[in-house]
Amino acid sequence: MSKPPMARLDRLLANLGYGSRREVQAMVAAGRVVLDGVALKDAGARIAVTSDLPARMTVGGQPVDPPAPLTLMMHKPLGVVCSHTEAGQRIYDLLPRRWRLRDPALSTVGRLDKETSGLILITDDGPLLHRIISPRAHVEKRYLAHLDRPLSGGEAAVFASGSLMLDGEDKPLLPARLEVVDPRTVRLTISEGRYHQVRRMFAAVGNHVTTLHREAVGGLELPPDLEPGAHRVMTPGDIQRVFGA
Ligand code: URA
Repeated sequence: MSKPPMARLDRLLANLGYGSRREVQAMVAAGRVVLDGVALKDAGARIAVTSDLPARMTVGGQPVDPPAPLTLMMHKPLGVVCSHTEAGQRIYDLLPRRWRLRDPALSTVGRLDKETSGLILITDDGPLLHRIISPRAHVEKRYLAHLDRPLSGGEAAVFASGSLMLDGEDKPLLPARLEVVDPRTVRLTISEGRYHQVRRMFAAVGNHVTTLHREAVGGLELPPDLEPGAHRVMTPGDIQRVFGA
């Protein structure tokens, strides 16, 4: 096993958003940071940054936040935006307040539209994020869509053709799989993440998506017990599932 990264205690806690280095030093001096049952005295002590830290360290009596690298799955509710800058309620507002101050910062892995619900991944692990969204990784995304009009019958072949061109683009879409649930409800599996892709695909065949929900990213399904707005820390097994559709 490779050695865990080491970090100075004050830097570790400052990067987790507990305060400035100076504020963290004061917390340590006050005996509020406890590791393996012992109050730490030295804010400059070097700590092994392991994923089991929340089970071993408390800050002010509460388990310390999970250290980086941290990857979450969230059930994105309708009406919430994925961008840091867009107006309105943001995905990040649904996470613990302190997490907004983390360094490295958390960001979503790709985006869902404001009016799309379902599985969204959030990470501070840049290389992992790029591995998931890289076209080379072919991580599939599965959506459940309700349509304004009944299917006409030719849509599955058009989407599977690999030659569908979206308005304003110069490269055809990769083949996508359409599964008919009922004449106005479908599951669509795509392996790209173009802007408003699913809505634009149905617009291209003369239909309109009325509701859109992402059920899975790669082999990772949205857990049925994860309520809209709730999140869960992803395990290494969950991350592997993303790449093992
Ligand atoms: N396609 C869309 O049109 N919207 C999303 O949010 C995701 C995929």
